[in-house]
Amino acid sequence: MKQFEDFRLDTANQCLWRSDVQIALPPKPFAVLRYLVENPGRLITHDELLDALWPETFVQPQVLRTYMLELRKVLGDDASQPRFIQTLSKRGYCFVATLTEHDGNARHLRSASSDLGATAIAGREKELAYLNDQVQLLEGGERRLIFVSGESGIGKTALVDTFLHHLKTSLAARVARGQCVQGVGGKESYYPVMEALSRLCASQDGETASRILARMAPAWLAMGCAPDAASAARTAAQEKPLGDLCAALEELTADKPLILVFEDLDWADDSTLNLVSALARRRARARLMVLVTYRPPKRSAEHPLKELRQDLLLHRLCEEMTLAPLQKPAVATLLQRELAQAELPPGLAAFVYQRAEGNPLFVIALLEHLIAQEILVRRGTDGAAQWVQQVTFQEMEAGVPDKLAQMIELEIERLSAEEQQLLEAGSVMNVAFPAWAVAAALGRDAAEVEEACDELARRLHFMKRAGQDDLPDGTRSPFYVFTHGLYREVLYQRQSATRRARRHMHIADRLGALFRGREAGVAREMAMHYEVAGDWVRAVDALRVAARQAEQRQAFADAAELLERAMRIAQNLNGVEREAAAQEILGESVAAREVRNLPAERPRKAPQKV
Ligand SMILES: Nc1ncnc2c1ncn2[C@@H]1O[C@H](COP(=O)(O)OP(=O)(O)OP(=O)(O)O)[C@@H](O)[C@H]1O
Ligand SMILES: [Mg+2]
Repeated sequence: MKQFEDFRLDTANQCLWRSDVQIALPPKPFAVLRYLVENPGRLITHDELLDALWPETFVQPQVLRTYMLELRKVLGDDASQPRFIQTLSKRGYCFVATLTEHDGNARHLRSASSDLGATAIAGREKELAYLNDQVQLLEGGERRLIFVSGESGIGKTALVDTFLHHLKTSLAARVARGQCVQGVGGKESYYPVMEALSRLCASQDGETASRILARMAPAWLAMGCAPDAASAARTAAQEKPLGDLCAALEELTADKPLILVFEDLDWADDSTLNLVSALARRRARARLMVLVTYRPPKRSAEHPLKELRQDLLLHRLCEEMTLAPLQKPAVATLLQRELAQAELPPGLAAFVYQRAEGNPLFVIALLEHLIAQEILVRRGTDGAAQWVQQVTFQEMEAGVPDKLAQMIELEIERLSAEEQQLLEAGSVMNVAFPAWAVAAALGRDAAEVEEACDELARRLHFMKRAGQDDLPDGTRSPFYVFTHGLYREVLYQRQSATRRARRHMHIADRLGALFRGREAGVAREMAMHYEVAGDWVRAVDALRVAARQAEQRQAFADAAELLERAMRIAQNLNGVEREAAAQEILGESVAAREVRNLPAERPRKAPQKV
């Protein structure tokens, strides 16, 4: 909460506090105050304020004067000697008080595991000690590959975050991190590798990394860190990129260890898996640690990662650490931290431990539930307030689901129908989604959606604002993320197939309109949406555009893979359309086809040469 003098702005409850006294404000004066507090120390013109608060309506500027009078009265402020709101004649207002962050009273669920600090993790001492031991081995030049596995929400990301956080203070090492992304769009070759490399090059001592990559693996530098089509063209022709990249990464470990993290490897593309495999198998000494997290694929399912892991384990080329559920004392610690209170209501830890089965994400969702249901309430005055339990355990039991996904579903059901729709539409995009996509999916006004999403991000613990999307028309659209993939999953799955398809289609159309003339840059993404929407023709068209672009970058293998995918999708078309699409795909490029053979279902006619 933002605090100024003895006032606190409580955005969750849309009110103001003066010490322990709650002051109710009507919605608009509250919104005016909030806008001022969130934009302190600068002139806010009448127009800006009117635009922010009444984006679609014309409102007489006079109304602001009324609200300011009301706010000054509540705050005990004096316009001639302002402590809080200064009037700048004929121009606007400026919030002049010093602001601090107030934490004490409110319970802040940590909204993202990436925010975890060194002390935030509960339990996991053995796992952290093990990782630290593994780091010690690097000094002898022994490379390490470590798989961290465990069910969703068990704390893999939190463990890696905490380990890296500690590492920063104890060892000078380079860290590069790449995230594998679910869905067809994420199957782009080397997607997480590119992410890790660009982060490496952009880091504080990124110059060394860029220099070594430029010398030893220039095609990678050109593709990942400094998109430069000309140098890519020069170098990628002699494609041997995997070996080059491995050698460059090994060279980079000469002055300090390198920790390469790949998150959620179960969603990785085959090329990324090949790189992990190559890095594990090479024999040269290198102070290199590859740390990967993954959710074990289902027992029966065939999965390339499963095969790779088994083979590496067999040859003792990797280590594996499976995260078990948290023990009861660790669950109690987690609860103490989340509630910011040392003494827990009696029996709470045991109840939550048993219900959540030691899964930290479940623990957090359960806590949200208990608070939302007012089973846990805060009693007492400001500084001395404590969470207490309102009802007995028997009463608590009722309506508390045993499954994490059901728990999340319950959280979502508590929201209004409109809010649920917004979140569902966001989930169609991915774990991260811009406001424009939500607006497109729902056919709503972008500014209105933005306002509503901002409001949700402020209120919900599982969604947060994460930056801006710069659009080609010069406008910007805020970005949001679900702080845990499972929330996205539940929101995505609860939509009917028809509705989901329609939303995918609208997003793809909007992408095309926004990037008209530059569709190549978003063609893969469009293809993914059209494919899921079942619009095979447009999915194939978009993949052909993407393949052409990959070919221009001399990324032939990538181009071939895209055309293979187009060909597979074309199989869904009826006879005549399929034949025509296949002709078009095969006619795309000789170069791309030379790298790999396209699927067997070639049409009878000879492909046309271009
Ligand atoms: N040991 C812990 N102590 C405190 N909080 C934890 C702990 N482990 C996980 N959490 C919290 O639980 C939530 C889920 O953890 P996390 O995101 O690390 O799970 P995960 O195993 O990476 O899940 P996924 O497989 O879906 O990526 C996060 O909010 C995280 O901060
Ligand atoms: Mg994770």
